[in-house]
Amino acid sequence: MVRSTAARYKTDVTRPRPAVALDGPAGAGKSTVARLTARALGFTLVDTGALYRTVALAAQRAGIPWSNTEGVASQARRLAEGALQMRPNPEGAVCVLLDGEDVSSQIRTPEMSFGASQVSSIPEVRAALLAMQRGAASEGGVVLEGRDIGTVVLPDAEAKFFVTASPEVRARRRHEELLARGFPSSFEQTLAEVLQRDEADSNRSVSPLRAAEDAELVDTSAMTIEEVVARIVQRVRQITGAR
Ligand code: DC
Repeated sequence: MVRSTAARYKTDVTRPRPAVALDGPAGAGKSTVARLTARALGFTLVDTGALYRTVALAAQRAGIPWSNTEGVASQARRLAEGALQMRPNPEGAVCVLLDGEDVSSQIRTPEMSFGASQVSSIPEVRAALLAMQRGAASEGGVVLEGRDIGTVVLPDAEAKFFVTASPEVRARRRHEELLARGFPSSFEQTLAEVLQRDEADSNRSVSPLRAAEDAELVDTSAMTIEEVVARIVQRVRQITGAR
């Protein structure tokens, strides 16, 4: 199934500049790495998790429970048809507009992390967001950050990385980030949530979280963000040097 999609897509590709796929679980430092990598390469960042988060928010605002697959899918289609816009902000992060309103911070709450995880398991939601993600990459010069970029969205991305870290390291980072942003948090609970989300993301039937066969594995447990970015940027330049 995935293979035939990949094969069909490959023939359509005419990107003038390379696309970088950055996948991995929550809390591996992927978002920061993606933002700094995009900046260092002069590429545009596409945060695909933000799309799923915005679907969760739009459903909630419309009074649609995340378990209502048809209702949530129709919100995803509405977003893909133009209700959702993404713009880079001056810091190089992504600013998300829902019906013209900047919802960048509303989508980054623990509640919307949970909602995004729920809605991302709905096949019709994933299908609705697929064309949008491919469209964003059609000119290249992009870093797409997500869970299934190297496997499903851009199987022919010129450079693919799977950024990960141990569950304990990821939970500690998430816990510290939540505290810094003023959310109450306990390490044990955060670790339990990390493990629960890993389980849900890795075992869902559509686009489960897994590294593409041709992705380079980057374990950030014992690396600084700067070291990770330097390694990825160097690899991208190496891989795409001829272009
Ligand atoms: O990266 P994030 O925490 O913002 O992602 C939020 C949720 O969306 C997470 O549970 C996994 C899901 N997601 C996905 O299924 N596919 C993607 N390409 C990106 C995110």
